[in-house]
Amino acid sequence: MKKIVIKGGFPLHGKITIGGAKNSAVALIPASLLSDGVCTIKNVPNITDRDALFDIVKLLNGDIKQDGSVIRIDSSNLQNTLITQELSVRLRASYYFMGVLLSKYKHVEIYFPGGCNIGSRPIDIHLKGFKKLGAKVTKNKHKYIIKADELKGADITLNFASVGATINIMFAATKAEGTTYIRNAAKEVEIINIADFLNKMGAKIKGAGTDVIEIEGVKHLDGAEIDVIPDRIEAGTYILMGALLGDNLTIEGIIPEHNKALFDKLSLMGVKYELDKNSVTINACKHLLPVDVTTLVYPGFPTDLGQPMSVLLTQAEGTSKMEETIWENRVGHYPYLVKMGANIELNGLVVTINGKTPLHGMEINATDLRGGAALILAGLIADGTTIISDIDYILRGYENIINKLSNVGAIISLEEI
Ligand code: EPZ
Repeated sequence: MKKIVIKGGFPLHGKITIGGAKNSAVALIPASLLSDGVCTIKNVPNITDRDALFDIVKLLNGDIKQDGSVIRIDSSNLQNTLITQELSVRLRASYYFMGVLLSKYKHVEIYFPGGCNIGSRPIDIHLKGFKKLGAKVTKNKHKYIIKADELKGADITLNFASVGATINIMFAATKAEGTTYIRNAAKEVEIINIADFLNKMGAKIKGAGTDVIEIEGVKHLDGAEIDVIPDRIEAGTYILMGALLGDNLTIEGIIPEHNKALFDKLSLMGVKYELDKNSVTINACKHLLPVDVTTLVYPGFPTDLGQPMSVLLTQAEGTSKMEETIWENRVGHYPYLVKMGANIELNGLVVTINGKTPLHGMEINATDLRGGAALILAGLIADGTTIISDIDYILRGYENIINKLSNVGAIISLEEI
């Protein structure tokens, strides 16, 4: 079985280039099927979630050509077929085919999506939006059948600013008759990336990135081209490594504004970094100050950086608090940090972290994508050797992470053990 093996304590020096955002790419790939032509998506990250989506596009008879990070998808011979359970459970983002196929064919049959075990991960807000647009949803066991005689614009208020529901309802409304409003919409920057793509195809979407999105339905969508924005969560993960082990570590290809909430916390902790237009250079901070973190919807501190951030807090000199408010279970990695030597008290979703504690390398398991990333951070600073199993979680969302870290001095490798 493949495992990640890390020898801890080595400084990180040099340049890491950030790839395209996973949470944009996994929506842009299904979105391309809304067009009746050829779409080109650039800067697509090399992650296994991408490959899972390609398999679904091929099942639907979409034609995919790949040249490195440039993907060309031809939807001219698309066929609307059942998306099997085997394919839909491979990732959470398979649910974007609901909005896309409902919009295009007014009929979609798909199994419940997969995704990391960070909570029950319902899709009720998505389905409520589809119903408001005129669709009928039937479910037997884990299979959804969503049909509409016609889709008509509606005024939809989300009871939570769900990223996925905002995007999925935007897909379903793009060709609906009339105007749709999505209120209490999620404001994550990936949504702007997706709306830009749809507008390039000929959609009429205004307000993406704000809490009210207006969509005027159109009849036809042409092929278009889009660049995936940089992955702010990948960037934040490497920035946190820089705060722990940086020796002039430069993370380039970022949009600093997208990581403002993280930079604000790092400044409070005493971390020094230099920002440039599309990069940041960061050095290890010898005396980290403790800080309290609460994860929030954008532009608050991102839930996807809460787990990696918790490792930095174990090295702060004092007591910090980490509160997760978006998902009900992003605590799977804490028992492993405690085994490695961290002083952590779990009280539901509020976690108290008492630093500074040395961490000791040992055999541990990734519990989910971002929990796995947190364990890599822990291994990088621990003394001795850390061996991480169940690494498929990590490879879903971090492209070439072994190479990116080895190239800046980490002693890290993928071993068959
Ligand atoms: C997206 O998930 C991201 N995934 C997540 O990143 C991220 O954590 C999340 O947004 C929040 O930023 C992708 O984009 C593929 P939500 P999504 O709908 O859209 C509840 C990562 O590590 N909810 O905003 O699934 C839900 O249970 C992943 O890259 C409902 O109750 O997140 C959760 O508590 C993890 N009903 C909260 O809302 C619904 O219909 C946030 O969910 C939908 C969501």
